[in-house]
Amino acid sequence: MDPIEGFTRLSADEKLDRLLADGLIGPEDIELILSFRHTDPLVAGFFERMTENVVTSYHLPYSISPNFLINGKTYHVPMVTEESSIVAAASWSAKFWRSRGGFLTTVLDEIKVGQIHFTWDGQYHQLAEYLQVFQPLLIDESRHITAGMDARGGGITGMEMVDFSEEADHLYQLRVSFLTADAMGANFINSCLELMAGRLRDHVAAAFPSVPPPEIIMAILSNYTPNCLVSCTVECQSKDLTGIRGADDPNQFARRFGLAARIAEIDPYRAVTHNKGIFNGIDAVILATGNDFRAVEAGGHAWAAKDGKYQSLTRIEQTGDLFRYTLTVPMAVGTVGGLTSAHPLARLSLRILGNPSARELMQIAAAAGMANNFSAVKALITNGIQEGHMKLHKRKSH
Ligand code: MEV
Repeated sequence: MDPIEGFTRLSADEKLDRLLADGLIGPEDIELILSFRHTDPLVAGFFERMTENVVTSYHLPYSISPNFLINGKTYHVPMVTEESSIVAAASWSAKFWRSRGGFLTTVLDEIKVGQIHFTWDGQYHQLAEYLQVFQPLLIDESRHITAGMDARGGGITGMEMVDFSEEADHLYQLRVSFLTADAMGANFINSCLELMAGRLRDHVAAAFPSVPPPEIIMAILSNYTPNCLVSCTVECQSKDLTGIRGADDPNQFARRFGLAARIAEIDPYRAVTHNKGIFNGIDAVILATGNDFRAVEAGGHAWAAKDGKYQSLTRIEQTGDLFRYTLTVPMAVGTVGGLTSAHPLARLSLRILGNPSARELMQIAAAAGMANNFSAVKALITNGIQEGHMKLHKRKSH
């Protein structure tokens, strides 16, 4: 196959002509591609500008999972996913837990982290001491970027110097903490970091003239957000785990569920699948609201391995008759800016959710994750998951 030169410069229709001429697609594919383009040229144009080399749109189902009771408030939760059973599973759990107190969620913290990686030939302890001096300068010099965020209750919340010189010669890091109010904040954080990187180099060069200036390697936010954390708990008495098909005895169900949850804590092979089931729900909400599911997934899986071994994101507590099941997961999301404000369906999702704050959205997404996981584990320890899957497969093939 010959390389395609200048593809980016062609219009969407010219791109199709080019693919056709090269035999990559046939005339019938053109019809298919055009049928998936939005009929409103304004919307089609919006999608074309969203990313590069766009030729059509790839649709995913948009569903509503109704009646989530979260901290006493009812939400009808938009979910975007291609996988059958996910919405049914979420809705089943929402109904089940609605009559048992609902989902109890808490935002544990909202701090996000950015990093400036650099090398420097001087002494680390001098750098660490000097941070006291140049931290306020860096904050002042970033004020033109942070002013809006400061006014909304966000901004830079702290800095620390990290010494990696044992791992790689002369390697250090300035780790900066941010609050980003209702924005996901990636652009805000990266703009601050890029500005601060240049200022850091200049300040350190001026303060230590006998040492060559630091060499900035890169400045970028971290998608590891262990301090941007939400938890979701469901709890009841074991004897109240009733009305579950394939589980006639609620206490037996509770015992088997407890074991299934423990298996996912103990065995990484099971933990990954267990957590995948959690992200079935979380990602569907993240996508529906125009947030970055890769960022949330990456942060979540890293958190699952924070103790040096990949584990489940859930914990089970069963003392006496108590059944308490908790999901804790990092969740860097926003409800203003980026795609959340630009994509008409993301805006609609947020409207359906009552225009939540980022804190509220963290809790809704965590509840969706819990709902999907509870349903999945319930199915696995009773009739298996194939029963539900096969029902939907049959529907799809009609
Ligand atoms: C399938 O998408 C998700 C499950 O495998 C999750 C789990 O095993 O807990 C059913």
